[in-house]
Amino acid sequence: MARLWGVWIHVRRVAKKAALVAASAGEEDSSMLLAAAWLHDIGYSPEVMETGLHALDGGRWLRRRGFHDRVASLVAFHSCAIYEAEERGWRICCAQSSSTRHRPSGTPCGTPT
Ligand SMILES: [Fe+2]
Repeated sequence: MARLWGVWIHVRRVAKKAALVAASAGEEDSSMLLAAAWLHDIGYSPEVMETGLHALDGGRWLRRRGFHDRVASLVAFHSCAIYEAEERGWRICCAQSSSTRHRPSGTPCGTPT
């Protein structure tokens, strides 16, 4: 529990920094950034954890719950998660179906390699 408290303190600091950046972004970008900042470490939650790679677990969890692909992808790929995933034998792949102007959006499919 103490570890999650530390994560919560960290998340609040990240969200505060993200708000500074979001102030100079457009409305859609800023809302995606703020959502991802608040949610980026949700993969540390025992209810969310699957693979043990918190970024991937968080991204997958958000995607299954219908969060926007960009938010799920920002969470899945944060902190260079793609390299940690590779080391652990997981693959974080990119979406093929997104028609947003922000393509390519990564989709945290999380398949073992
Ligand atoms: Fe973090």
